[in-house]
Amino acid sequence: MTYARIAGIGSFLPEKVVTNKDLEKMMDTSDEWIRERTGIKRRHVVSDSETTASIGLAAAERAMADAKVGPADIDLIIVGTATPDKVFPATACMIQRRLGVKGCPAFDVQAACSGFIYALDIANRFIKTGGATTALVIGAETLSRITNWEDRGTAVLFGDGAGCVVLQASDEAGIISTHIHADGEYEDLLHVPCGISIGYDQTRSGRAFIEMNGNAVFKRAVETFDKIARETMADLEGEIGDIDWFVPHQANMRIITAAARKLGMPMERVIATVDEHANTSGASIPLALDQAVRDGRIKRGDTLMFAAFGAGFTWGSAVVKY
Ligand code: UT7
Repeated sequence: MTYARIAGIGSFLPEKVVTNKDLEKMMDTSDEWIRERTGIKRRHVVSDSETTASIGLAAAERAMADAKVGPADIDLIIVGTATPDKVFPATACMIQRRLGVKGCPAFDVQAACSGFIYALDIANRFIKTGGATTALVIGAETLSRITNWEDRGTAVLFGDGAGCVVLQASDEAGIISTHIHADGEYEDLLHVPCGISIGYDQTRSGRAFIEMNGNAVFKRAVETFDKIARETMADLEGEIGDIDWFVPHQANMRIITAAARKLGMPMERVIATVDEHANTSGASIPLALDQAVRDGRIKRGDTLMFAAFGAGFTWGSAVVKY
């Protein structure tokens, strides 16, 4: 049986850091409110010259070095992003060119905060069916570009960053299961309500900004993590103890804690980076994974569970032998 195995991981965070204290100077908020309601302390923000493609490229180069693969080995590139550089071509194609990779399929997946899990699910299917042998799965976001810095309800929540895994075909166990879902019913609860086709006139400034009903999204996120927990447990035939590490999407520490409780995972086995990175949407899981691998918590042979929830609504999970 062929598995898709994580052969390498890399991530990249922009140098500029914006703390809660910095935000206090920009809007009517407080470090205390942000930490209590979200767990966030700071976030990284891109400079004018950085883009989703440039930070995604940096993460990909680090993951390729970690996996000891070169451009000639790569035969699939998928980027999960809600903040692509251009309408087209895909950010994946821009990264492909900068890496010097030739000819392989390269495309973006738009599933908001679930983008990395969607991309991982698709790459897993390619590898298992023989369509690819070495894939780059990237989550990269520049959410600061669609943040309304005058809206305290959303501006405090998001950050920029990128993470990448190299998936390789292997006889050894790798990705054990994936699930992806969507329910378009809740489009208006979390969205950027403008774009190329519907136009930009209905926005206040002619710019694209995230709008969210935070409370309603919070409730759906917690309910959905419960569904994800049940689905994953069914896969594992109820043995949640087999999971060494839970690596969830990093939106809010209270959502992460509720999700861990639903799963029956003690917090010592949960990777949380939301305090340092805030919500980086499609980048949050590979960023958290890379941090926990680098600091020695996650080791080869550990069983990991990823879970994400985001605009759409979209959600998904993966159980992976690292
Ligand atoms: O990635 C997946 C998608 N995103 C999420 O999962 C995020 C989901 N939502 C959340 O994380 C939470 O709903 C928030 C952190 C956004 C908000 O927390 P909350 O506990 O749901 O607060 P709330 O929206 O009910 O607001 C409570 C109060 C309000 O004041 P009043 O009406 O009670 O006087 C808000 O105006 O807090 C106020 N508030 C703030 N105060 C200080 C809202 N934002 C801020 C702020 N600073 N930044």
